[in-house]
Amino acid sequence: MARSALLNVMVQAALKAGKSLSRDFGEVQNLQVSLKGPGNYVSQADRKAEKIVREELLKARPTYGFLGEESEEIKGTDGSHRWIVDPLDGTTNFLHGIPQFAVSIGLERGGEMVAGVIYNPASDELFTAERGGGAYVNDRRLRVSARKSLSDAVIGCGMPHLGHGMHGRYLIQLRHVMGEAAGLRSLGAASLDLAFVAAGRMDGFWEEGLSPWDMAAGIVMIREAGGFSSDMDGGADIFGSGTIVAGNEHIHKALRDVANRPVPKG
Ligand code: IPD
Ligand code: CA
Ligand code: CA
Repeated sequence: MARSALLNVMVQAALKAGKSLSRDFGEVQNLQVSLKGPGNYVSQADRKAEKIVREELLKARPTYGFLGEESEEIKGTDGSHRWIVDPLDGTTNFLHGIPQFAVSIGLERGGEMVAGVIYNPASDELFTAERGGGAYVNDRRLRVSARKSLSDAVIGCGMPHLGHGMHGRYLIQLRHVMGEAAGLRSLGAASLDLAFVAAGRMDGFWEEGLSPWDMAAGIVMIREAGGFSSDMDGGADIFGSGTIVAGNEHIHKALRDVANRPVPKG
């Protein structure tokens, strides 16, 4: 598997930040049992990881823009390239000692996602994709699942929680989807959810109320694995709407149709 120079830069940044998160995750696991809990420690770990990623990426491409969750956006003098970064996706998992979290780095060119890296340091799984080059986990090529029917499909979803999202709307979508799907999972790190769809581990995924850094790398990963992603109406306004629906051709459509059904009476 040949990687472009740019993808290599992204991989190096993700691995370096991942190493730092790994060390901090070990400490978080120790702090689980303390009364104070690991809260402050986690926000430090998060900011440290973003600093590492930002420095690595801007060292390699000083003119590119940078949109990261934990710091002010850098516009960059090159108007057509932008890094979109979540240094720690799955913060609640990380905080609770659950090993499902990732560093997520996407590269946007002229408004289109062209490369993505999603790295889970706890499992040492490195998901990579670039336009025209396919998607991989470590050295293995990824392909979305071939299941055609929701009745065979395992569907991932992001659950809203305290202070986040439209709970009533989500419950209606969930009610519709749970009546049709073989299984539902909510794993708590949107970037990895999308990588899992690219890997065919889950057949589809939907979530509303997301930010660009949750989805940027996953969008190219899904596409390069032969899948589709869109907003809830099937359009391309994923970042603007904060909604993503993903899967293979059949599940992507079926999931939108089912989740979009009107509110049931009674
Ligand atoms: C969150 C995770 C989670 C999703 C939330 C995101 P964070 O990102 O991706 O799976 O349900 O909506 O905000 O806060 O852990 O970076
Ligand atoms: Ca996130
Ligand atoms: Ca985050």
